[in-house]
Amino acid sequence: MSAKIIDGKAFAATVREKVASHVVRLKADHGITPGLAVVLVGEDPASQVYVRNKGKQTVECGMQSFEHKLPAETPEADLLALIDRLNADPAVHGILVQLPLPGHMNADAVINAIDPAKDVDGFHISNVGLLGTGQKSMVPCTPLGCLMMLRDHLGSLSGLNAVVLGRSNIVGKPMAQLLLGESCTVTIAHSRTRDIEEVCRRADILVAAVGRPQMIKGDWVKPGATVIDVGINRIDAPEKGEGKTRLVGDCDYDSCAEVAGAITPVPGGVGPMTIACLLANTVTACCRANGLSEPEGLTA
Ligand code: GUN
Repeated sequence: MSAKIIDGKAFAATVREKVASHVVRLKADHGITPGLAVVLVGEDPASQVYVRNKGKQTVECGMQSFEHKLPAETPEADLLALIDRLNADPAVHGILVQLPLPGHMNADAVINAIDPAKDVDGFHISNVGLLGTGQKSMVPCTPLGCLMMLRDHLGSLSGLNAVVLGRSNIVGKPMAQLLLGESCTVTIAHSRTRDIEEVCRRADILVAAVGRPQMIKGDWVKPGATVIDVGINRIDAPEKGEGKTRLVGDCDYDSCAEVAGAITPVPGGVGPMTIACLLANTVTACCRANGLSEPEGLTA
């Protein structure tokens, strides 16, 4: 079998179109422009690229982007004061503090200072609890993007065996909660899981989020399974020339694509969906803040 490729880049473009058309309606019917504030502390080059892309796509969707760049040595109290101001600012519907934060800051304290209604990352402890108890919440962007692709490809997920590889707070745990919400039978596997290959082979849905390049091989995959590869790992690529690198997922793409029914590529799979879902969450937060009906197809 050769797997269908789930094109996350194209899917993300349709999500952004939905966001943009909702923004047009919010402006025309209610005079409201959704606003997203992104806070970057320090000069981490990868974070700078992410923040720039977030700001650009926010504006392209017709929303307001507020960027706050603080020096790496900013005292935590100053960051908390900025978050307080953003919490109180009616033009700001979503707040994202780019992680990782410098070592002297307590990331949990910073995240939990964000108004949960504006927590478009879905990392605030209130949103974690709401998601875990099946209540309406802000949902972390990467798992939300994975869920949208799974629903689009499979329709109903009810009764399917789902295995999530990885137990991070950002991807693994919320992904498992979302799949449980879809009535999947969910297993979270991790570095200590026994017979992990056998566990994976039972999965109708396999979500790989372990951060280990090409760890999951084709013989870990059930024939016909849907494989969602969350990993983005940079590895040496001597075949492209000396010192060159390339991006790979947590799955060994070629061998997994031989066996799977469908698979997300890296790059061009889950990655583009993450920012698209951030924009979707911002519109959702804006609608909720104004007591308006939520955008169709952009929430969990
Ligand atoms: N750093 C890497 N990914 C993310 C993300 O999804 N949200 C935030 N806030 N920081 C990140």
